[in-house]
Amino acid sequence: MVKRFLVFLFAVLVFLGCVKKGEDVIKIGVAGPMTGDQAKMGTDFKNGVALAIEEWNAKGGVLGKKIVNLIEDDQHDPKQAVSIANKLVNEGVAGVIGHFNSSCSIPASDVYNRAGIPMITPASTNPQLTERGYQGVFRVCGRDDQQGKVGAEFTITQLKLKRVAVIHDKTTYGQGLADEFRKNLGDKAEVVYYGGIVQGDKDFKTVLTSIKEKKPELIFLGGIYPEGGLLVKQSREIGMTVPFMSGDGVIDPKFIEIAGAEAAEGTYLTFSPDPNGIPTAKTFIENYKAKFGEIGPYSIYAYDAANIMLKAIEATGTTEGKAIMDKLHSMEFSGTLGNIKFDAKGDVTVAPYVVWITKGGKFVEHWKP
Ligand code: ALA
Repeated sequence: MVKRFLVFLFAVLVFLGCVKKGEDVIKIGVAGPMTGDQAKMGTDFKNGVALAIEEWNAKGGVLGKKIVNLIEDDQHDPKQAVSIANKLVNEGVAGVIGHFNSSCSIPASDVYNRAGIPMITPASTNPQLTERGYQGVFRVCGRDDQQGKVGAEFTITQLKLKRVAVIHDKTTYGQGLADEFRKNLGDKAEVVYYGGIVQGDKDFKTVLTSIKEKKPELIFLGGIYPEGGLLVKQSREIGMTVPFMSGDGVIDPKFIEIAGAEAAEGTYLTFSPDPNGIPTAKTFIENYKAKFGEIGPYSIYAYDAANIMLKAIEATGTTEGKAIMDKLHSMEFSGTLGNIKFDAKGDVTVAPYVVWITKGGKFVEHWKP
C-alpha cells in the first residue's frame, strides 16, 4: 500500500515537473525544407523567425515567458511534413510558422487543425490551403489564382505572345500555378505544349527538345528554383532563346546561380513587390543583414508571420489555440510589409503581385498590373 502510494506520489511529482517545465516557455514551431535542394528556403524561414523571437525575448518574451522555436525539417516531402507536424503537436507548440511548399502545408494543416493549433505559412500559395474551412490556417503571402492571373496578363498585354509552352513539377503548387496561368490565358494565347517534369530530375533536355519542336514564344514553369534553374540553363544549351517565366518558387539567387547569369538574363517571374522599396521593411532588412546576410524572398514573410502569431498570443493572454485563432481573424497587424489583415478564410486581404525580370544576375521589379 505504502509502496503504491509512493509510486503514485512519484508519478504526480513527475507530471507536475513536466507541466511546470512546459509552462516556463512558449514554443513556436518552424517547419520547412531545412535540408536538401530547397534548404535555402527553410533557412530563410528559420532566420526570419529567429530574429522575431530574439526581439521579443529581449523585451521579456510573451505572457512573461521566454519564447523558444522548435525547428523541424519537412524535406519538401508531404509525408515528412505530416510526421513533423505530429511531432510539433506532441511537443506542445502554441503555433506553427510553416510550411514552405503547399504540398507540405496542406497535409500538415490537417494535423494542426485536429490538434487545434494555429499555423501561419509565409509562402504556401496554393488556393486549396485556405479553402477547406479550417479556422486556424493563415498565410501572409498571396495565392496562385492571383499570381497566375498576373503572369498571364503580362504575357498577353505586355509581351503580346500567342504561343506558350506550360510545364509544371507535378506538385500541388507547381501544377496549380501552371493551371491558373493557362486558365487566365483563355483564348488569347495558344498553349502549344502542356506537361509535367519530375522534381529532383537533373536532365530536362528530352522534354525541352519536344517543347522546342512546338515553337513556343515563351516557356512557363510552375515549380521551384532547383528545376527552374536547370530548365533555363538546358533550354539555352539546346539553342532555345525564348523567354522563360515562372512564379514565386524561383525567386532566389540560387535560381540564377544554377541557370548561370547569362542564361537567366531576361527571365520573368511573378512575386510580391520589392521589400527594399517598402519603408516599414527598412529596419528589418538592416537587422537581418547584420545577423544573417542578404534577406531571402520569404525571410521577411517568416518574420512577419512570427510577429503576428506572438502578437495574437499576447493579445489573447493565453496559448489556447482557439483563442489565438479568433484573435488572428479579428486583429489588424502592422508588419514590416505594411498592414496585414486576414479574411474569413485566413488569406491576406491585400496581396499585390508584380512581374520581376532577371537583369545582370539580379532580380529587378519590372511591371505592375
Ligand atoms: N509558393 C510555393 C508553394 O506554395 C512556395 O509551394
